Amino acid sequence: MKLAIPCERHTDETRVAASPETVKKLVGLGLDVVVETGAGAGASIADADFEAAGASIAPDAVAAVTDADIVFCVQRPTADAVAAMKRGANLIGMLAPFRDQDVLQDYAERGLAAFAMEFMPRITRAQSMDVLSSQANLAGYRAVIEACQLFGRAMPMMMTAAGTIAPGRVLVMGAGVAGLQAIATARRLGAIVSATDVRPAAKEQVESLGGNFVMVESEETAAAETAGGYAREMSEEYQRAQAALIAETLKKQDIAICTALIPGRPAPVLITEEMVKSMKPGSVIVDLAVEQGGNCPLSKPGECVEAHGVRIIGYRNMPGRLPVDASALYAKNLLNFLKPLIAESGALEIDWEDEIILGTLLTRNGAVVHPALMATAE
Ligand code: NAI
Repeated sequence: MKLAIPCERHTDETRVAASPETVKKLVGLGLDVVVETGAGAGASIADADFEAAGASIAPDAVAAVTDADIVFCVQRPTADAVAAMKRGANLIGMLAPFRDQDVLQDYAERGLAAFAMEFMPRITRAQSMDVLSSQANLAGYRAVIEACQLFGRAMPMMMTAAGTIAPGRVLVMGAGVAGLQAIATARRLGAIVSATDVRPAAKEQVESLGGNFVMVESEETAAAETAGGYAREMSEEYQRAQAALIAETLKKQDIAICTALIPGRPAPVLITEEMVKSMKPGSVIVDLAVEQGGNCPLSKPGECVEAHGVRIIGYRNMPGRLPVDASALYAKNLLNFLKPLIAESGALEIDWEDEIILGTLLTRNGAVVHPALMATAE
């Protein structure tokens, strides 16, 4: 059985869907692994490293995916690569299921079984396959590092003969996976950290990391968390109360790290232009939600802009700024997803009724089959 890893061709994508470690394990499972030449370059993995792990190298994407039973990718493969895939092949990666759904229709028409790793159910058995967690964790860390780089002051309190430096103040908005890592990173650097969320469960997690939890509590927040652990969109009344609290808190901060997301919806606006104006000059905002519309309307995808003396970072693909670790963890997620699907005989045996398969499968046998997408199509 052939498994292919083509190069990623999206702008700013530095990651790769396999590492020498996972290739070795995939080969151990009986798979013929083919990597497109240069696929690991962005993550400092040479073709020779993949070869040493047991992969063969293909000269281009089409050669890599032709006849492959399984294709691993980070983001959606190019149209050429998809056209070269055989009917019934399994495409596994971050397929952005809510974006440009014509592409999914194309996968269906080509008879692909396409699995979106973003849809991984948040159940214990699937934790090691959860790409959103593995990547968001690194994004949260990197967001703080990016902010510090632009911030004109030190983070920890320093008492020196020349005077005392006050500690930096960081507000983290959204205390999920990225937010919690941002809190931990900022704390390690010595900052005074506050965080906010709509899920009351976040309070204990924030406080256990030494953060100060700020939240508008209401009857609504009791139901703010879905069964999958995600946040719901809040009412306008709640949003008004939350905005007042954030406005008060933000004035005293130096750095804001925005991570608030609602699956399948635009990101909630949490920092308005008025609030940016109220921040101290030299403050920094990192908007990790920028690709979903942003938590701050002034952030621009792929850019660092300055507004009212505040620098606002809207870099895309923050995990891609740590390509070595991001690829290693992502590759492990894919391996953990595939491994239970390979029988002892070495053949692919998919239980199409399994919760993990039902949760991630977008297309099969010529049709779009995921309930969340069928609902959007109606
Ligand atoms: P996410 O990336 O969808 O959102 C980030 C954070 O933004 C969340 O904490 C969310 O509550 C918050 N948020 C949304 N709207 C907001 C608003 N208006 N104001 C302030 N904050 C807002 O979520 P993420 O990081 O993927 O994690 C969500 C939950 O899932 C967490 O409790 C996490 O611990 C849990 N989780 C469970 C896993 C499992 O059991 N396998 C794996 C990973 C995460």
